[in-house]
Amino acid sequence: MKVGLLTGGGDCPGLNAVIRAVTRSLLRHCATEVIGIQDGFAGLMECRTQPLTWENVGELVGVGGTILGTTNRLNPLSSESATAQAMANVQALGLDALVAIGGDGTLTIAHGLAQRGLKVVGVPKTIDNDIEGCERSFGFDTAVATVTDALERVHTTGHSHGRVMIVETMGRHAGWIALEAGIAGAANIILLPEIDYDIARVAAVCRQRESKERFTLICMGEGAKPVGGDITWDVPAPGDTGQRRLGGVAMQLRDQLQPLLGSEVRATVLGHVQRGGSPTPFDRVLSSQYGVHAAELVAAGQFGRVVTLTRGALGNIALSRVAAQNRRVQADEPLLHTARQLGVSLGDAEDACLPCQTT
Ligand code: F6P
Repeated sequence: MKVGLLTGGGDCPGLNAVIRAVTRSLLRHCATEVIGIQDGFAGLMECRTQPLTWENVGELVGVGGTILGTTNRLNPLSSESATAQAMANVQALGLDALVAIGGDGTLTIAHGLAQRGLKVVGVPKTIDNDIEGCERSFGFDTAVATVTDALERVHTTGHSHGRVMIVETMGRHAGWIALEAGIAGAANIILLPEIDYDIARVAAVCRQRESKERFTLICMGEGAKPVGGDITWDVPAPGDTGQRRLGGVAMQLRDQLQPLLGSEVRATVLGHVQRGGSPTPFDRVLSSQYGVHAAELVAAGQFGRVVTLTRGALGNIALSRVAAQNRRVQADEPLLHTARQLGVSLGDAEDACLPCQTT
């Protein structure tokens, strides 16, 4: 068998560990040749590839980024001719199967190509942890560790100066990074895309803390928005033709809060620091498990599947369940209860019934 492997969408820690695991496991099971397709589906459209061998993937488990390159700017499903070209290139490259490592965008494309006959297995990647049917995408644990570290650093300087410190995380329309890192990093207020925040309530919590604790630490997801307000989009750079980007809600909140408070309000946007660097040990192990399981699915001829983790167990589900879906924080998410019980404000009215929550 000749198997292709690509990484699509935004990068994240653990991609190289998956490439290593898929390649080695395929070579043990069934493949005579494994090739990496460069820059995701853009590379498939141009037949740009590089060899993946037992030896050249050996050192990759702890290396950040992706040795194959990636892009989130090309969709072979955008037109019939692009789709036909992608399928023709699979033939031209002599691929018997493809392993697509990516988030919802990449897996949606993989599903579309699977419906046209491509033998494909998906591996769920994203720091956002928002892939439907999968409780942990690799990369998320590393991002949470990075944000937790940043919160602790912002905490000490905020404490010294008696400031309200706002930290904006990535995560798009899902609040998983902000929620887990906010709890781990002892944020006093956590604001999520799934729960619109009441600016008066946020200000009241800060004011209550001004008199007692000197500082307030706020962790907010980039997709958060005020009650009755809109999502904050980043201003595109001149000539930027890419997708609209979230970003800047921390500055908006700073400007809303400052007139209501005595203490100074500062905003920090963490940005791509959350996606870079080496994966945590957890992500290295998860990436390795996902890679080996993906190779086993290829060897068993089980295509149109995505590897997953559900209640701690490795498994796989149909690509169709994942395509064009997002897993967001639901109202009954146990971590919301944990946060509230710890006295963390989620910026909504439910805080009001917990008199001890601001201490
Ligand atoms: O989906 C991963 C992610 O890092 C999001 O959290 C973020 O909104 C987006 O990608 C940023 O993408 P880009 O690197 O293209 O700006």
